[in-house]
Amino acid sequence: MKFGFSARLLKTNHFRTAASNTSFPAVWMLLAQYPGRIPGSFAKVQRNSFFTMPETVEDKADPELYSPPPRVRGMTQLDREAFKRTIVVPVLKVQKEIIGSLLKPLKHTLLQRPGLKRVIEDPDDENSRLVMLDPHKIPEFSLGGSEQEVLKQFNIPPVVSKYDLELTYESFKLEEILRAVLPEGQEVTSGFSRVGHIAHLNLRDHQLPYRYLIGQVIIDKNPGVTSVVNKTSIIDSTYRNFEMEVLAGESNLVTKVKENNTTYELDFSKVYWNPRLSTEHGRIVELLKPGDVLFDVFAGVGPFAIPAAKKKCRVFANDLNPESYTWLLHNCKLNKVGDKIKAFNMDGRDFLLGPVREELSKGLLLQTEEQKPSFHIVMNLPALALEFLAAFRHLLAGAARGAALPTVHCYAFSKHPEPALDVWQRAEASLGASLRACCSVHAVRNVAPNKEMMCLSFQLPADPALGHQSDAEAPSDKQPPQGPPREQGASVP
Ligand SMILES: C[S@@+](CC[C@H](N)C(=O)[O-])C[C@H]1O[C@@H](n2cnc3c(N)ncnc32)[C@H](O)[C@@H]1O
Repeated sequence: MKFGFSARLLKTNHFRTAASNTSFPAVWMLLAQYPGRIPGSFAKVQRNSFFTMPETVEDKADPELYSPPPRVRGMTQLDREAFKRTIVVPVLKVQKEIIGSLLKPLKHTLLQRPGLKRVIEDPDDENSRLVMLDPHKIPEFSLGGSEQEVLKQFNIPPVVSKYDLELTYESFKLEEILRAVLPEGQEVTSGFSRVGHIAHLNLRDHQLPYRYLIGQVIIDKNPGVTSVVNKTSIIDSTYRNFEMEVLAGESNLVTKVKENNTTYELDFSKVYWNPRLSTEHGRIVELLKPGDVLFDVFAGVGPFAIPAAKKKCRVFANDLNPESYTWLLHNCKLNKVGDKIKAFNMDGRDFLLGPVREELSKGLLLQTEEQKPSFHIVMNLPALALEFLAAFRHLLAGAARGAALPTVHCYAFSKHPEPALDVWQRAEASLGASLRACCSVHAVRNVAPNKEMMCLSFQLPADPALGHQSDAEAPSDKQPPQGPPREQGASVP
């Protein structure tokens, strides 16, 4: 670790200016922050009962104090050396024997910066140490009442000295670095999604010239991140993955993630994975009981299917993307649930009309209630899944009424001001039946301003599935629904 201290502890006896009338029992002057602006000598300030502050130092919590130097603005190739900068921080000189006991009561006042020691050698006295304090907590280098009280208990004179502290690239946080480098006044997004060793960004146009620097700084500041990628196309490919550019680090995008205590391996450049769906995956799996049957129409690499199988459900999981299918099989093995999951690689409609229909028909023939499992069908392809509901029309034509029908969990995006109502009506239109009596809508997440991801859950109504059309159950576009579900988990009346 680099700590670049310029070990000079300087004191003067007096400091007075004729500025404001602020009075402090003891006040230390905070000198200018940038090396170029720091006056050549330092002032030692003695206790002074009526002390007036110079206007230049009245800013008690200087927001720029921990900023990198202005010369880094506009940097596109990372030059770590250019981040060096000296600031003046308050320090206490303390006998080394009592350091251990003093730090705890002073912990809220201590300097806390990445990579910086709070206690350092005293260059003038080998029996004492210098304890660095946070300039924001000791405004104008003046100890507050509680700190003075602590020092009194340890018999330490309440004298604060000044110390030239050299900040380096290592001492700045990611956001501080990006804010100093990127154009002033424009948004600095340091947020990213983490998928195993990969940090995944979605940079705006004005950030693109700085993308390689941003990637490198993210790696430097986030242990465990060894690859940074930026999305280069919107997610509209059939397989819901997207093109990406590796900005920094390794180009290997095969990674391992853990979600809800299950481990998955996947190639992030070829399959869909979204760490923001973990709660939703967990919510659906929570609804299942051991022995239930889950059909996952758009299964990806298995975040519904594998936990369901671990819960001793029987699972039929499908994905059209051959890469997802391969990783799904791999994850079944990895989690030792191969015997519980049957995997398919086909279009979702064919999956519903083939394996799902066949399995439901078998299940419906089971005689006793105890023998009958609950069937769930999960359809997480929010851009298109509602259209696939049409495949349920006549799916079980010929089966007897009273058969236990599956519960469908169908995802959809909505930009409508009333997303629950919107999703519900579109589902009814696709299915050709009313869902008035049997559905609930759950708000999954806000995807973008004015774009919600919703989950509509309903028990498949008998008439469309068995191939009947009932007047009583006409779709709601003919009978406008009243009192629609609007909030998370709301039920359709
Ligand atoms: C939004 S992802 C969801 C994956 C997974 N269920 C999850 O929650 O992470 C949708 C998945 O549907 C797959 N897919 C897209 N079109 C499909 C289709 N017509 N039939 C079956 N799968 C399809 C994609 O390959 C992708 O893996």
